[in-house]
Amino acid sequence: MSYINENFLKLQDSYLFSTIAKKVQKFTEENPDKKVIKLGIGDVTRPIIPECIKAMHKAVDEMGTQEGFRGYGPEQGYDFLRKAIVENDYKKRGINVEVDEIFISDGAKCDCGNIVDIFAKNNRVAITDPVYPVYIDTNVMSGRSGKFNKEKEIYENIVYLPVTSENNFKPELPREDVDLIYLCFPNNPTGTVLNKTDLKKWVNYAKEHRAVILYDSAYESFIGEKDVPHSIYEIDGAKDVAIEFRSFSKTAGFTGLRCGYVVIPKSVNGYTEKEEKVSLNKLWNRRTCTKFNGVSYVTQRAAEAIYTQEGQKQIKENIRYYMENAKIIKQGLEEAGFTVYGGINSPYVWLKVPDGISSWEFFDKLLQEVNVVGTPGSGFGPHGEGYFRLTAFGTYENTKEAIERIKNWNIR
Ligand code: MLT
Repeated sequence: MSYINENFLKLQDSYLFSTIAKKVQKFTEENPDKKVIKLGIGDVTRPIIPECIKAMHKAVDEMGTQEGFRGYGPEQGYDFLRKAIVENDYKKRGINVEVDEIFISDGAKCDCGNIVDIFAKNNRVAITDPVYPVYIDTNVMSGRSGKFNKEKEIYENIVYLPVTSENNFKPELPREDVDLIYLCFPNNPTGTVLNKTDLKKWVNYAKEHRAVILYDSAYESFIGEKDVPHSIYEIDGAKDVAIEFRSFSKTAGFTGLRCGYVVIPKSVNGYTEKEEKVSLNKLWNRRTCTKFNGVSYVTQRAAEAIYTQEGQKQIKENIRYYMENAKIIKQGLEEAGFTVYGGINSPYVWLKVPDGISSWEFFDKLLQEVNVVGTPGSGFGPHGEGYFRLTAFGTYENTKEAIERIKNWNIR
C-alpha cells in the first residue's frame, strides 16, 4: 500500500489563481460575446526585451556547435550570471554578496516553496496576512501547520501577522517566539512597502530569536520612491539572518521563460536539536545538487543580457510602462470613489471593497457586470477580506478600458 502525505489533505481545495481561472473560464464560455479584461494574476504582457532575445539566439546557435555545446550546467547556475547579479543587483547598492551565495533557479515561486526542505518540521512559522499563498501552502504540505480552522479561516500553529489599513500595512512583531518569518516587500498583494527603520526591527527580532527571515523581493524593481529598501541586505545585520528571493518574471517578462535566484549568505545559520550552528548556504547547496540540474544555458544567457547597458534601458522602459498602468488604476479608482493603497512602489493596487459586500462578491460583480477580473483579497488570507487586488501588468489599452468601465459602473 502506498501511504500519502496527509498534510496535503489539510490544504484548501484549490490554489487561489486556479479557482479564479476556472470562474473566468466558465463566465467566458457562457458569455462568448463579452470582452473580459484580466487584471487578476500578476502575469506580464510586454514581450521579452530585444536584448534578451538576441542573447538567446546567440546561445541557441552556440549549442549547435561542437565548441559551444553545453550539457549539464552547474546546479547553482553559471558564474557569468551569478557575477552579473553580484555586480548589478548588489554591489551597485553598496551590498557585498559573494558569487557562491547566489543560486540561480527556475523562479521565485519554486524557491519560496522549496526552501522549506532545509528547515525542521517543528519550526514555528510567521506569515503576514494577507499573503502570497505559496508560503503558507508549502508549510502546510511539509507538516508545519495544524488543521485549517474553517471558522477563523486560518491554519492552526501558524502565526498570522495582520497587514491592513489599521496598522498602515506594517506588520507588528509577533508576541510569541517564531523561527521562520516570511516577509515580502514591496508587498504582494497589498502593494505597500516598509522603510529601513521598519525592516531593522525585523532583523533585530530575528537576531534575538535566532530566527530566519525569508525575504521575497520579487517586486523590488518597481520601487519608485527613494529611501525604500530594495534588498533586506541594506539593513545592518541582515546578512546574518535573512535569505532573499529574487525573480526575473516581473522585472524582465520571464514568467514563461522561468528564471530567478535566491541569495543565502554564508553567515546565515540554522541550528541542530543540540543547538549546533549549521550554514544554510551549505544545506541549500546540498539540496540543489541532488534535486536540481540548473536552469537552461539559453535562459541564463537571456537573464545575463538584462544587465547590459541596453538591457537595463529596455527593462526600465517596460517597468515604466507597467507603473504608468498602476497610476491609471490608482487614479481612476480614486476618481470612482474607492479607497486605494499600493501602486506607487509596486505593480499591485489594493482597494477597499464597498461596505456590505465580501471580496468574492465583489469579484463576481466585477466579472459579471463590467467583465473585469481581479483577485479577491480574502483569497490571500482572512485579513484580506474587504479588499481586492488589481494588477498593472495588463496592456495599457486594456488597463485604460477596464478603469473606464469601473468608473462608469453603477455598482448594485
Ligand atoms: C500573483 O499574481 O500574485 C503572482 O503573479 C503569482 C506568482 O508570481 O506566482
